Amino acid sequence: MKYQLTKSSLSTIDADAVLLLSPQQSVDGKPTAGLRTADGGERLDKQLGHRLSTIMAEEAFKGELGTFRLVDCRDQLRARYVVLLGMGDERKLSPRAWRTLGAAIHRAAEQIRARRVAAVIEGQVIGGLTPPQRLQGLFEGMRLAQYRCDRFRPSEEQQTPALEVFIGVPERKNTALEHALARAQIVSEATCMARTLVNLPSNVCTPRYLADVARKIARRGKLQCNIFDAKALATMRMRLLLAVGQGSAVPPVLIHLRYRPAKGAKERVALVGKGVTFDTGGYDLKPSRNMLTMHGDMAGAAAVLATMEAMAQLRPRVTIDAYIPATENCVDAAAYKPSDIIESRSGKTVEIVNTDAEGRLVLADTLDYAVEQEPTLLIDIATLTGGVKYALGEIYTAVLGSDQSLVDQLMAASRVAAEPMWQLPLEEEYLDGFKGGLATLKNCGKSGASTITGALFLSQFVGKTPWAHLDIAEASWSDEPHALGQQGGTGAPVRTLCEFLMAL
Ligand code: BES
Ligand code: MN
Ligand code: ZN
Repeated sequence: MKYQLTKSSLSTIDADAVLLLSPQQSVDGKPTAGLRTADGGERLDKQLGHRLSTIMAEEAFKGELGTFRLVDCRDQLRARYVVLLGMGDERKLSPRAWRTLGAAIHRAAEQIRARRVAAVIEGQVIGGLTPPQRLQGLFEGMRLAQYRCDRFRPSEEQQTPALEVFIGVPERKNTALEHALARAQIVSEATCMARTLVNLPSNVCTPRYLADVARKIARRGKLQCNIFDAKALATMRMRLLLAVGQGSAVPPVLIHLRYRPAKGAKERVALVGKGVTFDTGGYDLKPSRNMLTMHGDMAGAAAVLATMEAMAQLRPRVTIDAYIPATENCVDAAAYKPSDIIESRSGKTVEIVNTDAEGRLVLADTLDYAVEQEPTLLIDIATLTGGVKYALGEIYTAVLGSDQSLVDQLMAASRVAAEPMWQLPLEEEYLDGFKGGLATLKNCGKSGASTITGALFLSQFVGKTPWAHLDIAEASWSDEPHALGQQGGTGAPVRTLCEFLMAL
């Protein structure tokens, strides 16, 4: 996506399409599309002999959010089209709505094969959002709607070319807008990167592949990168991670990426991302209907890697350590089995009552390792439980944690980034369900609230470090095409993590 701030007027600008916001208003009790003054809509309408308002009065276009109407104006303007973008009820405009609008711009441009589009950004606050905030939302929406995973048929499906966007402003120099645009670009590219990693099948995206991606990110962004192979993991006593990996033809690795700001930082953040590159369930084999998408069981790792790529460019004043335990969970003569007892890195022993509860095992050892470096904030991101679907449905990330202020900060970031997130209680009474076997803990609890018990298991390995857990089993994947993209990996919660880290 290219962009340029400009002082030219909409009627003479050299673009394929001019974009106008069209709020839905109530005229005689009926929902009707309207025009705005501050983005030049009314002025352009007058210039076009009220063509736009006539169309809006007579036609089906009602200004609903995400809809648009193309008006061919090539005889009257330098641009070929005016695009009326429905913005819905102006009072209900949320950060999500601006991304939906951005996605509509992409679809409109695609329909008329526009390469260059132009719009005026209004100076005032709309729906509580400043011009830079709105522009960031619009750009993210545009880029995310454009995303395709076309790596496996490169010639057949050409990705639509990136749009060039002209943004009308009173002054050419506007650092706040430029920052917002640069940030939108970095964050949305990172989101697309996470999507691709999730979409890649497990024969391509192996633990080693994730390690290679981490090395490349480190090289590009001048980060430090350590890859611990199986032998190193044995020395580090990470036996839970090794146990999950022992039934696979590809060896497990632990990835450690390290970002340090130029100047001193108050917060030291540790991010831990579950990197199970394929989860068959192990001997507690998944039914085939649940297995097909399990190449996406490394979405936590994908989000953490993509966030590091973004942070290397945005360079916030915090230190960030990213840890990714990467492995497959497979069936094999050497695989771990139900009833096995394994000593974790922390010394607590774990009885495997279900080999499909592997995520918490690889995370437990990694959290224990991360805590040793004494971070001030610890966040893990994992496709941990299918139960999140029953708790919060298809689009939410569940957040649980030992530190309410950290949870609150993550929720606040998720609202700004327009990635739905909701807290579940870390109910300690359910901890009893993990006890009573031969080992310190079983790897599954008894409560039916599997998202809560999954988090509770992890809580036993974080010590006193302020910690939050993001269960992205549902949010990281979409079975259907949606407003901001195709079926497949969504890139969640990259935008939230970027917003959270930049706000610290
Ligand atoms: N990777 C799965 C969780 C999952 C399910 C992610 C659906 C995405 C979509 C995880 O390893 C798992 O199998 N969890 C089990 C835990 C259970 C055995 C306690 C689950 O949720 O059923
Ligand atoms: Mn599993
Ligand atoms: Zn899993």
